[in-house]
Amino acid sequence: MAVYFNEPSRTFSEYLLVPGYSSKECRVDNVNLATPVVKFKKGEESSIKMKIPLVSAIMQAVSDDKLAVALAKEGGISFIFGSQTIENQAAMIRRVKSHKAGFVTSDANIRPDQTLGELLELKERTGHSTTAVTEDGTAEGKLVGIVTSRDYRISRMSLETKVKEFMTPFEKLIYVKEGATLSEANDVLWDNKLNTVPVIDDNQRLTHFVFRKDYDTHKAYPNELLDEHKRYMVGAGVNTRDYAERIPALVEAGADVLCIDSSEGFSEWQKDTLDFVRAKYGDSVKIGAGNVVDREGFNYLAEAGADFVKIGIGGGSICITREQKGIGRGQASAVIEVAQARNEYYEKTGVYIPICSDGGIVYDYHMTLALAMGADFIMLGRYFSRFDESPTNKLNINGNYVKEYWGEGSNRARNWQRYDMGGDSKLSFEEGVDSYVPYAGALSDNVRYSLQKVKSTMCNCGVLTIPELQKKAKMTIVSATSLVEGGAHDVILKDTSNSSNLR
Ligand code: IMP
Repeated sequence: MAVYFNEPSRTFSEYLLVPGYSSKECRVDNVNLATPVVKFKKGEESSIKMKIPLVSAIMQAVSDDKLAVALAKEGGISFIFGSQTIENQAAMIRRVKSHKAGFVTSDANIRPDQTLGELLELKERTGHSTTAVTEDGTAEGKLVGIVTSRDYRISRMSLETKVKEFMTPFEKLIYVKEGATLSEANDVLWDNKLNTVPVIDDNQRLTHFVFRKDYDTHKAYPNELLDEHKRYMVGAGVNTRDYAERIPALVEAGADVLCIDSSEGFSEWQKDTLDFVRAKYGDSVKIGAGNVVDREGFNYLAEAGADFVKIGIGGGSICITREQKGIGRGQASAVIEVAQARNEYYEKTGVYIPICSDGGIVYDYHMTLALAMGADFIMLGRYFSRFDESPTNKLNINGNYVKEYWGEGSNRARNWQRYDMGGDSKLSFEEGVDSYVPYAGALSDNVRYSLQKVKSTMCNCGVLTIPELQKKAKMTIVSATSLVEGGAHDVILKDTSNSSNLR
């Protein structure tokens, strides 16, 4: 006889938190969102802790080195996507680890023989006003000039004008040599009244830019997540196919934590991957596994040696797994059951294995609910894809700025390893879609705003830390009728343009 779960499969929006007693101590400034990432024994501390409970999804449209730096500045970790060559993924990890605060890799670059029209397109796409002109149009090419908006006048110039005709040529540029410290570069900015200064190596190749605004804002990241060498922390996704080659390359590149990226993780292939890591590195390499949605799946991965366990099947915004295959579970039900299993495992063994709720966060309050239900941290894809720092193009569709966002199981990503169930057959159907999401600006502004709300709700619940929230939260299921009561109702809204913006 098949197993039937008693409860229906529930989502976050079906729950509400009920306030607890708030003492005068319950102020947003007193809330601490620190959270463990990898397993630890009773009485000890997790060797990797984040300052905020957010990680970015293992996806092409979300987690590259640029987003990883932005998120580490805020106190979270990005898992760099694994659906790319081992060399490219390792290079991204290396770029995060070698990123020197204030030294920025140029991501708006053009060749001197390209045109003003192409420059304007690039500017629209990247949103940057400073463009490096390099011989081959790459971020590491030989620097031959720079273009800022002061160098051209669209009304007076043909769009066919070549960049070399109006750029500020290298001979007239003020630059600093590689090896200069941030404060030396900053002195050059101030002494010459510049906003930007390029950094070049001995062969005149561009290595970085230093922006005045970055120097000013560097001090503004109190939550920066750094390793013992003061480098940003970063994670990486791996799969159960090429792990024997990929994992050593990522470890060598400096990845702080790995995660097996699979749509369904209750499998022997995950155990093989974990066995490989333990045999080669013992406990010195940290690796999470998943995704699972029930007690059985959690216990299997816990016994197999996972450092954390990721939860979620079918709840991602771009995910069509449930429609395609009829498999998955409402994210709230999955988190609640896996959290119980995690607590039981801790009681039994004295080992605490953090759990991560992956996918399905639509509103900021879903973050608070996921934590209250027992998640130690949360993985988000759609949320981060909307920001300046995500790797995808920013486009204007019908007057609105959007960014592209596609699933790892879509034809566009072609990440079939994530859905691999062994054998040689390649999957022939999609489990994800290609989409747009509303553009939302800088990661820092958004993350701070969302977490301010989380902290405020925690104060209403009378708690100041995530473990306290997990223990003391009171939750109720909402009825379909009371859902209406929860939004603005029975009034005529004056301005509807902002009323349903998803955050
Ligand atoms: P979101 O935050 O709701 O957008 O969900 C992101 C999560 O969806 C990721 O972390 C993955 O677990 C999952 N995911 C990514 N790509 C796909 C896909 O193509 N199909 C199904 N799930 C996906």
